[in-house]
Amino acid sequence: MTSVNADVSATATAQKPIYQDESRPVEERVEDALLRLTLEEKVALCHAQSKFSTPGVARLGIPELWMSDGPHGVRAEISWNSWDYAGWTNDRITAFPALTALAATWNTDLAALYGKSVGEEARYRRKDVLLGPGVNIYRTPLNGRNFEYMGEDPFLAGEMVVPYIQELQKNGVAACVKHFALNNQEKWRGNVNVTLSDRALYEIYLPAFRRAVVDGKAWAVMGAYNKIWGGHCCHNSRLLNDILRGEWHFDGAVITDWGGAHDTREAALNGLDIEMGSFTNGLTSDSGSTYDEYYLASPYLRMLQSGEVSLSTVDAKARNILRLIFRTAMNTRKPFGSVASPEHYAAAKSIADESIVLLKNDGLLPLSPERYRRVLVVGENAVKMLNEGGGSSELKVKDMFSPLEALREVYDEVVYAPGYKSGRFAYDVEDVIPEEVQAELRREAVELAKDADAVIYIGGLNKNAFQDCESTDRYTYSLPFCQDELITELAAVNPNIVVANISGNAYAMPWLDRVPAVLQIWYLGTMIGPAIADVISGRVNPSGKLPFSFPRRLEDCGAHSFGAEAYPGVEGEAAGNAAADLEGADVNVGRDPQEVYAEDILVGYRWHDTKNVPAMFAFGHGLSYTCFAYGSARLSSDVLSDAGSITVSVPVTNTGSRAGKETVQLYLSELNAVVPRPAKELKGFVKLSLEPGETKEAVFTIGVDALKYFDAEAHAWIAQPGAFRALIGSASDDVRASADFVYK
Ligand code: GLC
Repeated sequence: MTSVNADVSATATAQKPIYQDESRPVEERVEDALLRLTLEEKVALCHAQSKFSTPGVARLGIPELWMSDGPHGVRAEISWNSWDYAGWTNDRITAFPALTALAATWNTDLAALYGKSVGEEARYRRKDVLLGPGVNIYRTPLNGRNFEYMGEDPFLAGEMVVPYIQELQKNGVAACVKHFALNNQEKWRGNVNVTLSDRALYEIYLPAFRRAVVDGKAWAVMGAYNKIWGGHCCHNSRLLNDILRGEWHFDGAVITDWGGAHDTREAALNGLDIEMGSFTNGLTSDSGSTYDEYYLASPYLRMLQSGEVSLSTVDAKARNILRLIFRTAMNTRKPFGSVASPEHYAAAKSIADESIVLLKNDGLLPLSPERYRRVLVVGENAVKMLNEGGGSSELKVKDMFSPLEALREVYDEVVYAPGYKSGRFAYDVEDVIPEEVQAELRREAVELAKDADAVIYIGGLNKNAFQDCESTDRYTYSLPFCQDELITELAAVNPNIVVANISGNAYAMPWLDRVPAVLQIWYLGTMIGPAIADVISGRVNPSGKLPFSFPRRLEDCGAHSFGAEAYPGVEGEAAGNAAADLEGADVNVGRDPQEVYAEDILVGYRWHDTKNVPAMFAFGHGLSYTCFAYGSARLSSDVLSDAGSITVSVPVTNTGSRAGKETVQLYLSELNAVVPRPAKELKGFVKLSLEPGETKEAVFTIGVDALKYFDAEAHAWIAQPGAFRALIGSASDDVRASADFVYK
């Protein structure tokens, strides 16, 4: 036991120890606590003591840190030392809409409300760290976890994540933004080595994380499972020391994804603070010494004691962890929180309402309950508990109001037919339902559709493996479970069909021309039913906009235009060849799968617009039950110089007969760029609420930063003097006004 500093201990007896005195600056408290810790206590802070907690320092009254998933709500209590649920009866909570839904609202006020509400539930459940939000960029529609993230554009994701984190942390609960970085797929997530240009890294994949840290002030960051530059993200010096701490001045704690640590020396030196969920070195979970054998446990202590690694490494970790503890577990001024309150249900409903995207409407919607009295509801997702499954973000809800129940409240006579079966949840194998079973369910639904005034189809993906689910990617862009046949056959017998699919990913729509109305619904949690019923019936006017593109075909997506090497990557010998071919790539050419982000900066609409491959539904697309007219764009000046900024404004009028909300989007385009640049990039948005006949100005401020691209050689953001165009529109493929200006 290293003796504590005698002076400090003498002082401590005279008054409250500094580290416990919340009136003192946090850094003073950190240094005071650090002086009191033994080496063993510092090391103990750096790794798990259970599935979801780390030890504090009982001797000093420094409490344990308790963590919980996830981004959409507080996960049910997990057992101490296994992935089994603990079987508590007091951990039912509100399931908030998935973060893709939040992104689809394009409403930063709702992002703040979301963070406040989910933070109150985490606080009430006595959690110190909420393992979310996730801001990995949507690169491929096959990624099983896209539903947890905020879409394909770094500006939108950044704008939405900041208020979520700020409000969440006001509850004394740390946000743990994840998965840092380049965890853009689930296939081979544990070791795929991603190679990409620094330009793509800085322009596409880092910005939302940077906003979360620099503007959101996130108190924790979770390292991703995968590799970049040949090293695991959870202890990757360039990612964590150079970028996160060096460039962004992050002062929080870096936590591994569960099992993301793989090497003691790297973990000691490369910026990791807390090791969670390691599967250890082959020890079973029953071993009493499991946690002692963590990479940052005894092996690390031995390295410190032998001098193989400097004591400064554990002091740096302990400082970051103590700072996190003082902000959370030892923060006595935090509110008390609440769970499943009317306020939280109202918040979940508001977010759900504004997230639903009206993709197509030939006039059938809103579906008047007066006119369409006998309605057939088809689809398993009308009744399925979609908050269950999907991986670590799954939730045990207090309430779940299903779409079928809610529709029965609105329409006089509602008949239900499943139309298909999705089979049980299973990671190991796709539980394929026999074709004849699907055919019989389909026949039954089609028969009933003949007699209905209208059909509401609620299908889509679900949280089964190989659907929208952690640890697995989809293996097809098509809807599963024979749904395309079902929708086609329903539309053939009843033209009044609304397709309201639920998913966290884009998917093919071979039946699109045969149906008059399509809604994109996200995993909306507790309030999913009332939200769907209110939009379909017209009580709520939809105002969501797509946070990611819907390609017509998978091969129209950038990530799927360069062969297996670009997705999902290649392994074995092919990996060796691929890696060896990469110019100067510092990759571990071993057994790890190798993946090259060959589409580079052209992700999502950047690909569709620049390569002139129109999407089926574009990023930013979303219709309304009313109409909006845009006037001309006016610039405050057509010259932008370094020091200043200019504004561009466009009047927007609600020319319809009912109130509505329109998200007006600003894109910028460099007209004669000296480097390859996307055709346009989102640089601003504003959501206007307009009464019938009302006009409001959408006003955007453009500063030099909005013009910049990342110059990898100079390792700097550069704005080239020259001509630029401001494009203002209702979607990335629906520009309504533009204005040119010059940067000098
Ligand atoms: C999982 C997920 C991560 C989650 C953690 C704890 O593997 O990747 O998002 O927070 O483990 O469940």
